Amino acid sequence: MSAIAHESFDGALVVKTMGREAEETARFAVRAGELRDALISVGRLRGVFDPMLETLPSLGTLAVLLVGAWRLRQGQVTVTELVSVAFLFTVLAFPVRAIGWVLAELPRSVAGWERVRRVLTAEGEMPYGAGVRDAHGRPATLRFDSVSFGYEDAAVLTDVSFTVPAGRTVALVGPTGSGKSTIASLAVRLVDPGSGTVFLDDTPSHELSAASLAETIALVPQVPFVFDDSVRANVTLDRPGVADEDVWAALRMAQADGFVASLPEGLDTHVGERGATLSGGQRQRLTLSRALAGRPGLLVLDDSTSAVDPRVEAAILASLRSADPPVTILVVAYRRATIALADEVVYIEQGRVIATGTHAELLATVPGYTDLVTAYEQAEAERERERAFEEAL
Ligand SMILES: Nc1ncnc2c1ncn2[C@@H]1O[C@H](COP(=O)(O)OP(=O)(O)OP(=O)(O)O)[C@@H](O)[C@H]1O
Ligand SMILES: [Mg+2]
Repeated sequence: MSAIAHESFDGALVVKTMGREAEETARFAVRAGELRDALISVGRLRGVFDPMLETLPSLGTLAVLLVGAWRLRQGQVTVTELVSVAFLFTVLAFPVRAIGWVLAELPRSVAGWERVRRVLTAEGEMPYGAGVRDAHGRPATLRFDSVSFGYEDAAVLTDVSFTVPAGRTVALVGPTGSGKSTIASLAVRLVDPGSGTVFLDDTPSHELSAASLAETIALVPQVPFVFDDSVRANVTLDRPGVADEDVWAALRMAQADGFVASLPEGLDTHVGERGATLSGGQRQRLTLSRALAGRPGLLVLDDSTSAVDPRVEAAILASLRSADPPVTILVVAYRRATIALADEVVYIEQGRVIATGTHAELLATVPGYTDLVTAYEQAEAERERERAFEEAL
């Protein structure tokens, strides 16, 4: 019920633009109706059982008194005995009622316990090692060694191996659903491989401590997340040692300093829930600044500049590549210009590395790659035409 309400409010824009308000309201009404019916039947049951539980002890006392009075007349019991038994019965009334309450609460508690137990026994907490990468501020080398990964039974990645040398930029290219975001998650150890190893420098990433890992790597996810807070808080995330100069430096590198400077309160401007007051491209650049502010040794960009225009994207990549100290970059990219900026390209299809090499080499030797990049380029040209058309209007 609360899940549906949450979804309806969250997806309000979709619901409204698709004209599905009535259907969404009906979906909510069905669930609300179900909840109401359930509560009514609970009320009915309680209406029957509660009075019964209340009257039972009194009926018992009445029976004791009747039988007792009869046996008293026959001289089988004394007045003292009768009064004692009747008194004991009234004393018993409370515990009997308490048992009723317990029985009534039991199903609810069992259901609650089941939920708590599921949380308490949840597995999958990642064990971290004690390894520390004492090279903060230096670019890291990322190496996938025969990595395979699957969700449940479905294999997503098979025997993936590639290296991003320290300070270099590697573009990850592949059709939709080929496993690019999965590789990004593995690179920053959001998940562990089913087999094979992800190395950071020469250390398997699972041997590093959580703190060292967080200091070394930064992921800018495919879908940016912006907190309902100020620009400053969104960039620093309360990490110690990130001063305002660092925030501005990160914003500059992400080509976000311009729009932040023009906000009414600069760094103190609140950006609204999920960054609602920002444009899509501004949100992406803000999340990129957040990743840069920690001065990571490895930056993983999962299609994280798709909403900024190609010129700005090229400027961002250029400034990242000339960053001082340098940073290692693994970038999931679609635009030909972006891909061409990378030192090397890893091309994947259906979770397997098909080819590795420079953009020019792959264009010359891998037909699938050429097709994909050409298709991207056509889509991009289309979008560029639309943009120009809108500007001309
Ligand atoms: N949480 C999940 N549970 C089950 N399967 C998943 C999950 N996440 C991804 N997959 C599957 O894994 C495969 C690879 O997904 P992934 O997100 O890595 O693709 P991608 O290359 O990033 O695609 P895109 O270009 O569309 O972002 C897909 O077939 C997808 O359906
Ligand atoms: Mg993806």
